[in-house]
Parts: sequence; structure tokens; C-alpha cells
Amino acid sequence: MPKEAVKFLKLTLIRGAMNRQEAKEKIDALTASLKEHNYRYYVLDEPVISDLEFDRLLKELEFLEKQFPELKHPDSPTQTVGGGVENEFNTVKHKRPMFSLGNTYNEQELREFDERVRKVTGEQVEYVCELKIDGLAISLFFENGEMVQAITRGDGVQGDDVTDNVRTIRSLNLRLRGNYPPSFEIRGEIYMPRKGFEKLNREREAMGETPYANPRNVASGSLKLKNSAEVAKRPLDITLYHFLADNNPFKTHFESLNNARLWGLKVAETTEVCKGVDEVLNFLKKWDEQRHSLGFDTDGVVIKVNNLALQDELGFTAKVPRWAIAYKFQTESAVTELLGITYQVGRTGAITPVAELKPVFLLGTTVKRASLHNANEIERLDVRVGDMVFIEKGGEIIPKITGVDFSQRKPHLAPTQYITHCPECGTELIRKEGEAQHYCTNDNECAPQVIGKIEHFVARKALNIDSIGSEMARLLYEKGLIKSVADLYKLQFDDLLKLERMGEKSAKNILAGIESSKNIPFERVLFGMGIRYVGETVAKKLARAFGSMDKLMEASRDDLLQVDEIGEVIADSLIDYFGSQEHRKLIQELKDSGLQLQSSTASEKQSNKLQGLTFVISGVFSKMSRDEAKDLIEANGGKCSGSVSSKTHYLLAGEGMGPAKLQKAEELGVKIIGEDDLLEMLDGSAPAKDETPVQGSLF
Ligand code: IVH
Repeated sequence: MPKEAVKFLKLTLIRGAMNRQEAKEKIDALTASLKEHNYRYYVLDEPVISDLEFDRLLKELEFLEKQFPELKHPDSPTQTVGGGVENEFNTVKHKRPMFSLGNTYNEQELREFDERVRKVTGEQVEYVCELKIDGLAISLFFENGEMVQAITRGDGVQGDDVTDNVRTIRSLNLRLRGNYPPSFEIRGEIYMPRKGFEKLNREREAMGETPYANPRNVASGSLKLKNSAEVAKRPLDITLYHFLADNNPFKTHFESLNNARLWGLKVAETTEVCKGVDEVLNFLKKWDEQRHSLGFDTDGVVIKVNNLALQDELGFTAKVPRWAIAYKFQTESAVTELLGITYQVGRTGAITPVAELKPVFLLGTTVKRASLHNANEIERLDVRVGDMVFIEKGGEIIPKITGVDFSQRKPHLAPTQYITHCPECGTELIRKEGEAQHYCTNDNECAPQVIGKIEHFVARKALNIDSIGSEMARLLYEKGLIKSVADLYKLQFDDLLKLERMGEKSAKNILAGIESSKNIPFERVLFGMGIRYVGETVAKKLARAFGSMDKLMEASRDDLLQVDEIGEVIADSLIDYFGSQEHRKLIQELKDSGLQLQSSTASEKQSNKLQGLTFVISGVFSKMSRDEAKDLIEANGGKCSGSVSSKTHYLLAGEGMGPAKLQKAEELGVKIIGEDDLLEMLDGSAPAKDETPVQGSLF
């Protein structure tokens, strides 16, 4: 067993001795303290402990809750990590319809709105101005201070129940504090802050995936993911802006928001009360200038009558409230000519069409190019070379083409024919069913793919050859010194010296970097190979599961699918990759060069106690991670597989396990055990049952 695991289990035994009263006190204290830290971190943005310390406290709480499940608070901070349960979304009718807002685009229209309001109210009106975040609307229900339901807007009359997914949003307090009403609804916006969006896209690119187009779409897609544990990984955020209750205790909208903040809910700090339309205009001006410095995309301001009695008096039209309106910021746009469409080839062969534009000045920069994303987008816009196109820079800094000025279309412009062959190497492109992107499959010879692969291979998180940067990778390829990553290991000092501006010192540096990459562990070599969908995490899982490149190459699709978190898409990509003779040759060359193609960390054999037994692991555990559980089983001769079948002997079940797995196990008569049972099977070291009522309590 790895040293870490031994230490962990010893600690477990000491903790197991805690009695119920002590555990209760500790659980209560940890719950309260973690909630406070969450609140400080996510709502106030003033953390007082490090992320590491936070995780340590969270782990401790998770551990105790597992031992004493009856002491766990229903709104425990451990809930928000997502349980890995498969969600089905029920359609639910909204208790109160979710209206949208009327739009205004200029001062004149806003003044007309104010006049309409004042016709009813007669005097200067107090408005509340809120930044309009570009995300998706959500309705939350709280009962006795606990979040019980979250529903998407849907068509305004009914939406999807996404409660489990919304629970994973860290900035949302699931349990309120202070003097909250017993029952109320509160609405707000779920969105993805720019930083989180950019990080997600960097991760996608590292896996060879095309980046997402904008934060709004990802936020919306994330909320519809079937697995809450996946949603928990997405950096979603929430802001609440509309309190509703049958007996609303507040006189003004602003008062309701301030109270919601006191209960621990996240309400925008930028919201202001404005007396009369002129103050509203000042607010608009201020944020039109400052909005680009915000951490999220905003497309306007929502202006609401502050007095709730006045809101009632004004009421609604068929579609929108008469007491509120959205002011949309002018997205700066320009019209320019589309001079041509070029096609970029990415590391994995993905083709991205790029609009080559007649240079035009927009929001401080000259725009010459804009992404057209894929063939569908070109078709949707019906954009043709020679067209005058609208360019916009909304909240985002990247310009996009929003449409064609058809009034200026010249006759005889031919519809755009998407390319059929790779612009770099001439190979015929393919487009797989259900995918938006076209691909060039010539990954061994197509220059941008090969260079991209070398860049990826030498990157810090892969083989970490920092003496070779992007420029050098390109130069080595273009000068014909390397044709694949395997050629790096054949580079000679004299070859390098022949390169322009290459000194002896730099050449030595490069060779030293290459030499020391031979010690990089297998999982990073695997990541560095740049196999589609095999990012850092997947590479780790595969290295752990198979232990060596040879075993991984031999694995069947079914074997791959047995591995935790390896689905059909990844399995197919691997089978595809290893099916190629060239790839096999490349791997052989890497092996001959002395790279680590075998895990040195593959669990050392501890015993044969689980010999011949197959386990399926599901859910979350308090004493060990899923990977640790897997290591433990394998180190003792057992096997782990991803799905329950007649060959499964034990289902190792943790919290939040998939109901389908449980049902299948029951149908097939597979034994269901908890983590303590596993520990007991190994060495009888599970804590005595009378002290820790863990086992069986789940089932
Ligand atoms: S109030 C009846 N306030 O804008 C009141 N909406 O165009 C309706 N939105 O569906 C909504 N920020 O998704 C309101 N501070 C804010 C908002 C906001 C963003 C979104 C929301 C709504 C859409 C209406």
C-alpha cells in the first residue's frame, strides 16, 4: 500500500474512537465554520483561510458525516461538491410566471418608459438599477431557510427542475442565516465568470477540443448536465435579484435585496437606488464605460421601480412588467468587407474557418480577422466572400460576425463552399456525425498538426522540455530536423549547431532538457502524446488503470469502458489512435529512446486477499478517494470494473452512488458493501461497529 494510504488509514482508526457526543459537537462546529468560510469566500469575497485549509476542514467534516450520518446537517457544505448522481429533469410549472423584460436602446426610449410610469404614479420615481448579467434566469424556493427547489426559466410558464445541479454552485448558500421569511421564492441569474470560462477553455484546448464560443452557452449547458459531480466542476456563479413571497414583508425592492444579502444570499454590490430618470442615466453612463473591467459579461442594465406597491399598481402587459425595463448597452459594431475565408488547422486536425476582413477600427483596436467557428455558422449567416458584414464586440473582447448586410450584397456572389480538403496537406476532410467541426486525419504529416503536437509534447504539464518553446518546435520541424516527437530523442548536438543563431550553450540546454524528460512519469508522457480527449486527468486514470503503455494498447473497448470516468467517446478515440500503425511505430520509438512508458507508481502488491474478486466502485467515500479505493483493491489482488455485470462480486457503494448501479446490483444479487467492509476484508482493521454506526446505515 502506498505510504500515504497507510498514514490515512491509521488516522482513520484514531478518529473512529470519537464518541457520538464529541462527533456531534465537532460536526456542528465544522458545519458552521465551513459555511462561514464559504460565505466569506463566495459572497463577501474576503476569505480568511487558504483553499488548502478549507479543503482540509471539508474532508474532516465529510469523514465525520460518513461515520455519523444521522448527525449530518441537511444543508451541509459537503453537499455542494456534487454527489455523482444521474439527474433526470422534471418539468415543473412555475408558481408565478417568469416574465421577460422590455428593451430600450437609448435615452429617448428610457425617458418614454419613465413617462409611462409617472402617468400612473404622478411624481418623480425611485428606481433601482442593476447590471444585467448575461446568463440564464433561475427561480429558487426556500422553505424554513433551506433551498428546496431550483427551476430554470424554460418558456416562462414551466421550466426544468435542476435543484441538484444548482446545489453545486459554491456561492449559493443552501441554508440561510438571520431573520428570513419561512417561505419565499427568489430569482436570479446563473452565469460563468470570464476567468472560469477561460480556464475551462484552456483545459479543453489541452485536450485537443475546440474552445466554447461564449460563457453564456457553457453556463446553460452546464446546468443541463446529467451528472451533478460534473456540474460541480464547472465554475458557475449566481446573483439574485428578485424576491417574491405571498406575504411580502418589504416595502421596496431594494430593501428586499439588502435583506436577502443579510440571509447570506449573493446580491450584486453594484446595484443602486436612483432618484428619477436622470440619476438612472448617470448609472448607465458609468457602467457603459466600466463594464469591460467586470469579471463577467453584462449586456445592459435592468431598471426597476423600487416601491413594491407601485410595482403592483403598474402590473404587467401580456409579456413584460410595466414596472421594469432593460437598457441594452450599445454593442459597438462596424460594417466591413469580407475579403476571404481562411482555414486554420489545430493540433488535433480540427479545422476552424477564419474571416479575413478589411481592417476596421472597433473599441480601441483594429480588427482584421474573426472566427467563423465551423461550417454550420457559415451556413447560418449565409456569409459570402465580398459581402459587407457586421462586426461586434459585445462584452467579450473577441470580435464576432453577427450578420451580413444583405442590402449591400453584390449580385452573383457565390455561396460559400466549405473546403473539402485540408488547406495544409490536401487530405480529404471528415466530419463525424453529430460534430460541428471538420477534421484533417493526416496527423503524422500535416504540418500544423505535427508542430502543434510537438508544442504540446514539450509543454510544462507534459514532458516539460522548457528549453524548446513554440518557436523552437516550429524551427526544428521546418528545418527538417524532426518529423515527430520521437525524433526529438535523435537530435544531435551538431545538427542543432547548424541552426541560425544557435550557440553551443543553447544546444546543450536543449539536449539536457530532452534527456531529463526521460524521467517524466508515464501518465505525463501519455498526456503529452496529445491523443484526442486524453487530458491530464484522463491520462492519470488510464495510467493508473493499465499501468503501462503496452497494457493500454492491448485494451479492448470494453476494457477501457470499465475504467472509472472513461466513456465511449474517450474509448473510441483511444482505439482509433492505437489502431494506427504509425502511432504504434511512434510509441515503439519512444520506448526505445528510454521514455517512461510504464507507471512506477503502479501499486505494489500488498496481498492476495482479494484475488479473483471483481469490484465496482460507485459514489463518494469519506475515508478514501475513489482512486485510493481502487489502488487498495488492486494492491490486494482484486480487480475493478466500471459497470455492474454478472461477473461483479462486490459493489463498493459510497454516498450519492448511481441508482441504476444499485438496482442492477440488486437484480444480479451482487453483494453491496461499504468502505469499512472493504477495510475489514483486508485486515479486519475497520473500527468496531458499536463505536461507528457506519455500515449498513446507507442500505
Ligand atoms: S428581472 C419581471 N433583473 O434578463 C422581472 N432580469 O430580459 C424579470 N436578467 O430572464 C427579470 N439580470 O434572465 C431581472 N437584474 C436583473 C437581471 C435580469 C439579468 C435577465 C433574466 C431575464 C432576462 C429578461
